[in-house]
Formats: sequence, structure tokens, C-alpha cells
Amino acid sequence: MGVVRDIFIGLSENKILNDASKQMGLRFGAQKVVGGTGVNDTLSCLSDINNQGMSVTFDNLGEFISDRGEALKEKNNIIKMIKAIQKEGIDAHASVKLSQIGLHIDEAFCYENIKEILNTAKETNLFVNLDMENYVSKGPSLNILDKLLKEYDNVGTVIQAYFYDAKKDVRKYKDNRIRLVKGAYKEPATLAYQNKSDIDQSYFEIIKTHLVEGSGFTSIATHDHNIIEKTIRFIETQGISKDKFEFQMLYGFRKDYQQDLVARGYNMCVYVPYGTDWYAYFMRRLAERPQNLNLVVKSLTSS
Ligand code: FDA
Repeated sequence: MGVVRDIFIGLSENKILNDASKQMGLRFGAQKVVGGTGVNDTLSCLSDINNQGMSVTFDNLGEFISDRGEALKEKNNIIKMIKAIQKEGIDAHASVKLSQIGLHIDEAFCYENIKEILNTAKETNLFVNLDMENYVSKGPSLNILDKLLKEYDNVGTVIQAYFYDAKKDVRKYKDNRIRLVKGAYKEPATLAYQNKSDIDQSYFEIIKTHLVEGSGFTSIATHDHNIIEKTIRFIETQGISKDKFEFQMLYGFRKDYQQDLVARGYNMCVYVPYGTDWYAYFMRRLAERPQNLNLVVKSLTSS
């Protein structure tokens, strides 16, 4: 299983394949997990999800951004989508990867870009989540977040349970809106738990900590029914109000379960990636769950 995961993670980092895929449109089953390639098709996907009783968070796909011009272009794309969402009155928040808007080019430049995004979002109090990438990005991302939090209340981030210091981070951001995840990147044993049961245990710990210790809204982002049902039991025994948290799942995954949680009265938010730069995202989903390969097989056999 670890080998398959490593192969797909390796593929997700391949720049040549990444560039080639941009010319193709959504292929190989990616259309099942990516909301659209442009503003209009994505908006219609988002409003469909709203009509099913769920909110959405949208992610302008794009990786390997290494020059200022590209980073500015991505920043403008994000602002364009935020404005379109504000105009359409869609129930949505933005998920932004700081590496896409210059984190690894120049932190000060990245900071100016995210501020511009936040200023536009703020006009309708739209929340902006800073997605968390690999460990190299974590320190600089949290530096930027800490500066932003002095000025904005419509920003938050992600904490990854696989890091040994996840609980410390959760306590630091206990009064902020935070998305909690297991963690999607390959990190060394010096920094992060490697086996599933350790990661799951750390994940449940940080969920409980964020739910009870502070006032921040908790987004529990997982497809893992064991964790979700355990969390629901915990929430019930603690009498935690349903408006203090939400579940989040990726677009195209466990749709029946998403609907089931909505029917049980829980807030559900669907994470919708969109754009032409879908390849690395799609490979990471295959790395996490090789069973998702059935999306590829189905798309090849039906074309
Ligand atoms: P995991 O993959 O551990 O699966 C546990 C069990 O759940 C499986 O054994 C299976 O039984 C069941 N299951 C899982 N998927 C299923 C499916 N599709 N169908 C049926 N059963 C299934 N990571 C990161 O590093 N930074 C980030 O910013 C984010 N952001 C983010 C947002 C959202 C909304 C989500 C859902 C996830 C992320 N992630 C992330 C990814 C996250 O860190 C993690 O890699 C994936 O969610 C996979 O772990 P899970 O917790 O979903 O379950």
C-alpha cells in the first residue's frame, strides 16, 4: 500500500505530466472530483451543492508556481471567483494555497497577495482558509497567518494530525476557525507519525481539543466514518452545539454519506477544486486511496 502511495505522490510531483495535463481538459475520471475548469461551470457545480443543503469551499487548482507573473495571475483568478460567488450569493468560502500566490518566491509578496484576496472577501464577510501544504510551507504559512489574524477575522488555516506538534498548534489556534485533517503529504518520521493508527489517534485527539478548549469553529475534514461517528458520539456526550462545527469532504467522495450527515442535521461543507491544473490534485487522491483508481478505469471504459 505504501509503495502505491509513494508512486502516486511521485507522479503528483512530476512537472512535465503536470504541464501536459493542462492542455487536456478534465480527463481520466478527474471530472468526477473536480468541479469545473472555468468560472461558469464551477459556479453551476457550487450552486448544485448548495441546493442539496451543503455549503462549499472552492480551491483554484495550481501548483509549481515559481514566478511572480504566474502568482499574480492565480491571485487574480481567485479574486475573480470570489467576486462571481459574491454576485451569485452562493454559500461558499475560499480555500487558498499560499504556494500558489508566491509563498516560495518571496514571503512579503505572498503576504500582499493574500491581503488583496482577503480584502475582496471581506466585503461580504466571506471566509478564506489557508490550506496547509508540506512541512517546508508550514512555518512560513503560519507566520503569514499570525500577521493576518491581527487585522482580519475572516481567515483561518488547516492543522494536520500527522505532525507530532499538531496538538500544540490546535491549542494555539483554539479560538480560530480551523480545519482539521489527517495530513496528505509525505513527511519524515522525525516530524510526523507514519502509521495509520497513530495518525487516527492524534486526529481524534485534536478534534476533541479544538471542539472543547476554545471558541473557534471546527471543520472536521475527513471521509473516515469511524472518526466521524466517534466524533458524533463525543459531541453528543459533551452536549456540543451543531453550529460550532461542520464536517467537510472532498467533492465526488462518499456522496451518500455526505447526504446522510445532512439528513441527520449536521453542517456539511464540500471542498470543490476547479481549474485546468487538476493533475497533481487528482494524483494525490489516488495516492490516498488507490480504490479511487476505479474512477480512472470507469472513465477509460466509458469513452
Ligand atoms: P483515510 O484515507 O484515512 O480513510 C480512512 C477510512 O475511511 C478508509 O479506510 C475507508 O474505510 C474510509 N474511506 C475513506 N475514503 C473513502 C471513500 N472515498 N469511500 C469510502 N470509504 C472511504 N490535507 C492536507 O495535508 N492539507 C490540507 O489542507 C487538506 N485539506 C483537506 C480538505 C478536505 C475537505 C479533506 C476531506 C481533506 C483534506 N486534506 C488535506 C487531506 C487529508 O489530510 C487526508 O489526506 C485525506 O482526507 C484522507 O484521509 P481521510 O481522513 O479522509 O481518511
